[in-house]
Amino acid sequence: MRILVTGGAGFIGSALVRHLVSEIGAEVLNVDALTYAGNLASLKSVESAPNYQFLQADICDRARMMQEAFASFRPDIVMHLAAESHVDRSISGADDFIQTNIVGTFSLLDAARHYWDGLDARRKSAFRFLHVSTDEVYGSLGDEGLFEETTPYDPSSPYSASKAASDHLAIAWHRTYGLPVVVSNCSNNYGPFHFPEKLIPLMILNALEGKPLPVYGNGANVRDWLYVEDHARALFTIASRGRPGEKYNVGGRNERRNIDVVHRICAILDGVYSDKGPHARLITNVTDRPGHDARYAIDASKLESELGWKAQETFETGIEKTVHWYLENEWWWRPLRENVYSGERLGVFKGR
Ligand code: NAD
Ligand code: TYD
Repeated sequence: MRILVTGGAGFIGSALVRHLVSEIGAEVLNVDALTYAGNLASLKSVESAPNYQFLQADICDRARMMQEAFASFRPDIVMHLAAESHVDRSISGADDFIQTNIVGTFSLLDAARHYWDGLDARRKSAFRFLHVSTDEVYGSLGDEGLFEETTPYDPSSPYSASKAASDHLAIAWHRTYGLPVVVSNCSNNYGPFHFPEKLIPLMILNALEGKPLPVYGNGANVRDWLYVEDHARALFTIASRGRPGEKYNVGGRNERRNIDVVHRICAILDGVYSDKGPHARLITNVTDRPGHDARYAIDASKLESELGWKAQETFETGIEKTVHWYLENEWWWRPLRENVYSGERLGVFKGR
């Protein structure tokens, strides 16, 4: 099985590539532009595997790089993860989000369509294009209810609006051209190799360094957390067995308030460094994020009942593993904190 992965040097993409190369034994081509969020160090464990190749390229470069990548690699499956992914960065500057998430997805869909058109009948019907998206396209929930595949789109941030646009393009390429597209919408991921601009790794590293833990607003916003390796398994399941034209929600039924997530991280660190605790004294409430969605929660029963996937980690086991991974892998995060992003507040602007 030949799988072209975009964004394979990112957080979820690298977990997926490690899974495909080491556990599934697929031939993998990782296409990634290596933006600030792309990091080949996350792929150290597979970089010299005979079934792994890397191509540094921008997915927006349709005419040259994408068409050539399809023609020379000849994939059976495309798993499209390349994106600008951080809500706060989309608030301060949406340009890259519009380019990569919308124009880039168009470029990749079109390159895939031309390649797919030229396949023989057997390969054509077996081909799949998995477009990887987020639950944030559905907008914000109140205290009750879950996102289902039929929930209307209602995105709040430039990030989620750009992902919503790309989901619509992907489905349109199926309905109009017949390209066998499948879409997945997943909740918040966490785990090893997570770029330290997102809540969980930022809190772990700030707490380790004795810096403030900035909780937006009152910390009552709820996210539904999924361990990244569970997501990687779900993505392969959907790409290999999902039905064309369908959407699948992915989530592990792990709703938590942000403030409770931060307290849990602090408690784990207190257990390791009792002399430096209590780490919760570092928690600081800061100005809220503009357009901050109150609650996300996923109903993953379609994926569970139709394709037999189930999350293996609970939040308790996953967060314990994650904190310990950061304690043991300073070689990975130290250069990022020093040279790429040192933890300053992102996504605030004057006038709000
Ligand atoms: P990430 O920001 O960690 O990684 C994105 C990767 O895409 C990076 O390696 C980057 O170099 C690459 N990239 C960016 N622009 C590119 C371009 N123009 N051409 C080629 N490569 C480019 O993101 P992530 O958290 O791993 O998310 C991966 C996908 O999953 C995204 O599509 C995101 O919307 C989706 N998603 C993320 C979450 C989450 O919690 N992180 C949840 C659900 C869905
Ligand atoms: P984040 O990790 O940015 O993911 P997303 O915005 O895609 O859900 O944020 C998760 C939650 O944590 C979100 O409600 C915003 C909040 N948050 C903080 O309270 N403080 C922070 O420093 C960050 C980065 C996020």
